[in-house]
Amino acid sequence: GLAQVAAASIPELAQAKDGEDMADWRAFPRDFLWGVATAAFQVEGAASEGRGPSIWDTFSHVQGNIFEDATADVACDHFHRYKEDVQLIKQLGVRTYRFSISWSRVLPTGTVKGGVSEEGLAFYASLCQELLANGIEPVATLYHWDLPQGLEDSGGWLNRQTVDAFKDYAQLCFSRLGRYIKTWCTINEPWTQCIVGYCFGSHAPGRSVAPGEEPYLVGHHMLLAHAAAAQVYKAIKPPEGRLAMVLNTEWPEAQEPKNPQDIAAVERFLAFNIGWFADPLYTGDYPELMKSRVGERLPKFSDAEKEALRGSNDFFALNCYSARYICEDTPWRKLQNFQATLKILPYISDVPVARFKAAIAEKQAMSSEESVPSAASPPGLLGGPASPPPDKPVPSNSWLTDASYETAVPLDAELTATGWPVAHFGLGRLLLYIQQKYQPPGGILITEAGAAFKEAGGSPAPATADADQASYLQSQAVVVRRAMQEGADVRGYIWWTLMDNFEWSYGYSKRFGLYEVDFTGSLARRPRPAAAAFQALAKQNRVP
Ligand code: NOJ
Repeated sequence: GLAQVAAASIPELAQAKDGEDMADWRAFPRDFLWGVATAAFQVEGAASEGRGPSIWDTFSHVQGNIFEDATADVACDHFHRYKEDVQLIKQLGVRTYRFSISWSRVLPTGTVKGGVSEEGLAFYASLCQELLANGIEPVATLYHWDLPQGLEDSGGWLNRQTVDAFKDYAQLCFSRLGRYIKTWCTINEPWTQCIVGYCFGSHAPGRSVAPGEEPYLVGHHMLLAHAAAAQVYKAIKPPEGRLAMVLNTEWPEAQEPKNPQDIAAVERFLAFNIGWFADPLYTGDYPELMKSRVGERLPKFSDAEKEALRGSNDFFALNCYSARYICEDTPWRKLQNFQATLKILPYISDVPVARFKAAIAEKQAMSSEESVPSAASPPGLLGGPASPPPDKPVPSNSWLTDASYETAVPLDAELTATGWPVAHFGLGRLLLYIQQKYQPPGGILITEAGAAFKEAGGSPAPATADADQASYLQSQAVVVRRAMQEGADVRGYIWWTLMDNFEWSYGYSKRFGLYEVDFTGSLARRPRPAAAAFQALAKQNRVP
């Protein structure tokens, strides 16, 4: 069983004190892994050079799905420029590079039966050779959201057969690339795929028709796919080999820390975000809170499946970008939080502004008709769902009503370009929570953390944006080190991302890169101040 850990019991992290002896806390362990990350679909381009289509090709080519209808057909052209990009990583002086393998570049239809692309495998072998020759350790993600369209055509993650297809694909990658890659990530952010892809519908495959069923089925299959890959790997694992599913969550902070309803909402948030996947990986089954609230709609694991899942994570791979206030989901709190959000709207990113405006108009129209706001959050707002088109019936069940919490941005928080609050303390407390609850063997590897600062396509970035990114990075280092000091077994920190790239539905308008990419033509890469900040951090291996 898991340790009972109440989020509310996680302490505040101590602040750096003036005059404190630097030597004792600033230094990271000698083998701490600094790194940068990317994902195949977001950087590679070369979409039709030997690669089969993926659900993101299909989705991004539908008008209106992506900001400015951008596609990733070319993206950063990393497929052709990977040698140059390895040099960029080398210049940062980091020890590791996390990238993903495009499933449909290796298996164009998704299955081994449909043919293996030797050219595709050769690309990843060359990339790994280039990395290793430059002293950079590859960390490979098998699946970062780009499901082969061939598999989607027969149901994709809704179909149990995709589990077997993933197992074959994983086996192929382990056997052909395993001599280069010792750290594997199976599936990236299953929560995001389940909820944004099958509940909100703003990520591929863009479904929101059964938000109380499909997300759970998809998540179930992803867990089984991970477990199947882990079993295959176990049989051939080299001594230093390790594998994990990459989980993501924001840190939930009770909006009113003494309000029992808000505290309960925080526990639901944790169960329906990270617990959904972490509990099966560490105990073999879903959190009780999920089982009781979702009932028959939550698929069940057989005993053999539980056995395969339990202990299948060799380390805890974590992506974390922010923290939110969480409270009970009531119409009153929704209205309250929505009004608070309106006040900070001018500071929220430029891209969803049209959607925000539509949301405000919709809300205002509604509140003049009725005294309580509807159950639906405004589209796109703080990651909320888009309202279904008027002709579609509203499903009575949804992951949203199951989880039943409301999120709010602290009024005094600075927001990044994606509208995510800058709340470093959240990462620190999340690390402690994970440590205490899961006590993960192999420690915690932060596989993604990062931030985009205001710099929408076309509009000039405020002069502060680059400096913000650098100071964000430094504050993160402080919080991670503090959490380690208080007991979190953190093994490394990987920044999202090496260079600006295709940020999913935001297209190229959100820039997370340590290197800026000129998407208006040359695709030239130019370091931002945060690149130097990261270089210094990795080199000195201590909090500046
Ligand atoms: C999570 C995803 O894994 C990555 O693909 C994305 O670009 C970043 N977070 C930033 O949103």
